[in-house]
Amino acid sequence: MDKMSIHYIFLLLLQQCIMVELVMSLTNITTDQFALLEFQSRISSDPDNIISSNWSYTTSVCSWVGVSCGARHRRVTALNLPNVNLSGSLPPHLGNLSFLASFNLSGNAFQGQLPRELGKLRRLKLIDLSFNFFEGSIPLSIYNISSLRWIYLEGNSLLGTLPNELYDRLPNLEVLYLYMNQLNG
Ligand SMILES: *[C@@H]1O[C@H](CO)[C@@H](O)[C@H](O)[C@H]1NC(C)=O
Ligand SMILES: *[C@@H]1O[C@H](CO)[C@@H](O)[C@H](O)[C@H]1NC(C)=O
Ligand SMILES: *[C@@H]1O[C@H](CO)[C@@H](O)[C@H](O)[C@H]1NC(C)=O
Ligand SMILES: *[C@@H]1O[C@H](CO)[C@@H](O)[C@H](O)[C@H]1NC(C)=O
Ligand SMILES: *[C@@H]1O[C@H](CO)[C@@H](O)[C@H](O)[C@H]1NC(C)=O
Ligand SMILES: *[C@@H]1O[C@H](CO)[C@@H](O)[C@H](O)[C@H]1NC(C)=O
Repeated sequence: MDKMSIHYIFLLLLQQCIMVELVMSLTNITTDQFALLEFQSRISSDPDNIISSNWSYTTSVCSWVGVSCGARHRRVTALNLPNVNLSGSLPPHLGNLSFLASFNLSGNAFQGQLPRELGKLRRLKLIDLSFNFFEGSIPLSIYNISSLRWIYLEGNSLLGTLPNELYDRLPNLEVLYLYMNQLNG
């Protein structure tokens, strides 16, 4: 490698660090905790006491069942609670989980609309909300998350039209499952 490209790579890395620092200075683990507590407060039924007996104020969110944090920055990177019989709706606060990469609530009984704030999840790679009772239209903001690779929304009552430029806006997309909804396009 010549001197120029080393210089260039260094600048890219520096820029990346500054971006991460900036996001972290705007939000922190307290923001993540607040978002998760809002999520918990909208759970209307948890018959198997999956989170009601576990998500406690007195322990770190990183030890909560279904929650994972990044090893280095200790921010929430995953919210995965598939097939645990939860009912409820999703709060807009989930859009504040700035480091979320994996979101899997497949096979529960969640209902209501998908908050458009989910489009703020710039690092999201996987969203699996399949086999719930979500309704309304898929927020267009979702198609702004260029990091998305796997989208599973099948088995809900979602409505709407897919944008034509879908594959341009989601260049990393590998899987898009939407069957058993009422979509066009
Ligand atoms: C997170 O940020 C808020 C407001 O900027 C601040 O009050 C709080 O102390 C911070 N919490 C942590 C754990 O850094
Ligand atoms: C919550 O569940 C996690 C994972 O199963 C466990 O490690 C943790 O100790 C539990 N916390 C409480 C307060 O029960
Ligand atoms: C979500 O979790 C379920 C149950 O563990 C799993 O079968 C499914 O593959 C997960 N979704 C994705 C997209 O990985
Ligand atoms: C969810 O409910 C079904 C039916 O009541 C039960 O068989 C299953 O074990 C429950 N799942 C969990 C994770 O407790
Ligand atoms: C997070 O999101 C909600 C709703 O989108 C907002 O009202 C709240 O103030 C946000 N910020 C923090 C730091 O929790
Ligand atoms: C998508 O992102 C662009 C640029 O940040 C923004 O102007 C636009 O409002 C976003 N669209 C939606 C539907 O959120």
